[in-house]
Amino acid sequence: MAGRIPQSFIDNLLDRVDLVEIVDRRVKLRKSGKNYSACCPFHEEKTPSFTVSPDKQFYYCFGCGASGNALGFLMEFERLDFPRAVQSLADHAGLEVPREESAHDPRQAARAEARQNLYSVMEAANRFYQLQLRQHPQAGRARDYLKGRGLSGEIARDYDLGFAPPGWTNLLDALGDTPASRELLTEAGLLIAKDDGKLYDRFRDRVMFPIRDNRGRVIAFGGRVLGDDKPKYLNSPETPIFHKGRELYGLYQARKRHRHLPRMLVVEGYMDVVALAQHGIGWAGATLGTATSEEHLQKLFRHVPEVVFCFDGDDAGRRAATRALETCLPAMIDGRQARFLFLPEGEDPDTLVRSEGAAAFEQRVSQALPLERYLFDSLSTGLDLATMEGRARLSKAAAPLLQTLPDGVYRSLMFQELGRL
Ligand code: UTP
Ligand code: MN
Repeated sequence: MAGRIPQSFIDNLLDRVDLVEIVDRRVKLRKSGKNYSACCPFHEEKTPSFTVSPDKQFYYCFGCGASGNALGFLMEFERLDFPRAVQSLADHAGLEVPREESAHDPRQAARAEARQNLYSVMEAANRFYQLQLRQHPQAGRARDYLKGRGLSGEIARDYDLGFAPPGWTNLLDALGDTPASRELLTEAGLLIAKDDGKLYDRFRDRVMFPIRDNRGRVIAFGGRVLGDDKPKYLNSPETPIFHKGRELYGLYQARKRHRHLPRMLVVEGYMDVVALAQHGIGWAGATLGTATSEEHLQKLFRHVPEVVFCFDGDDAGRRAATRALETCLPAMIDGRQARFLFLPEGEDPDTLVRSEGAAAFEQRVSQALPLERYLFDSLSTGLDLATMEGRARLSKAAAPLLQTLPDGVYRSLMFQELGRL
């Protein structure tokens, strides 16, 4: 755990943000006199008794008594604990959250320093791989490979693509000059120790994709073979700074490119993100071949109100979509939207955007099924809703799913729709 967040930072942070804007992004506010009002997001009501005062930077609900400042609102609304709410608000304000060195716990300080060292070594490796893509005698093969996949030098730079040269000790020789640095490289997952203790490079003869966190720090790599060898992609192992199931490749770049993203596209692979960006669709993030997790959704919805999931049009794609749907439902706070895009069989976003172009691909995105349509359509498949039996089955299948929706207008509308069907 990191140290305490200094109170002075919290005060400064609250000075910099506007509660009206924070609330309004999540709950549409209407001006009423010198305050703003809305139906309260924290209890069910038909007439607005939720008030936000821009002067006092404070909200209050006359119906249920909920009240607080911007941090309190985020904690309640997004169900965040205090440090996470501070982090979210700081991200929004473009500030770094400082931590007090806690003199009481030297272990904490040591852990913080260890993490810091991991970030540094990842960044050093990133520079090394990028340099190799430009300078290594064999780099022509990697550059040709990328060119062959339709990528320009500019996009390769935007995503900091690199090259891990062939050979067992390139990175080791370049960065592992002391026992401490070798230990760090191993902890970072960049070197692997053999049984006899000898070290070698994890990534060899691969095109390298650095994975960045929210703040742009390199936390892991994916490396692709240049041909058809197996495994096609090698990823960094789990480390103290990398948890594969939580990260979205490309999210950082998308946010950097677009100040106000209206939506994010969720795809499977590195190449999908980069190829889409090559065609001007710079708002995709990849789950790196894992299923969409709750953490993915929290990350996404923190930055955009709408998420569009891409799936293969085959059985595996439909199974993945069902799982994404189940993960999504509890996150569907009012104001958020999720949609499902099924691609033609055998295609992925990379092949599709290259064959049919950005406009046609965006056309598909705009026609993606809203979550509610996908849910009712997929549950109704094979049922005859003209019969009582069909309707009973639909109800039995849908009710437990709808139960997982958070309270709100969306939830009531979904139950209404189920009733109508
Ligand atoms: P895919 O097998 O769909 O590959 O894996 P892709 O993205 O279309 O790859 P290209 O187009 O042939 O280059 C999707 C994602 O699953 C993870 C990677 O993150 C990949 O981008 N994956 C796949 C691995 O981690 N290891 C593998 O061996 C294969
Ligand atoms: Mn592909």
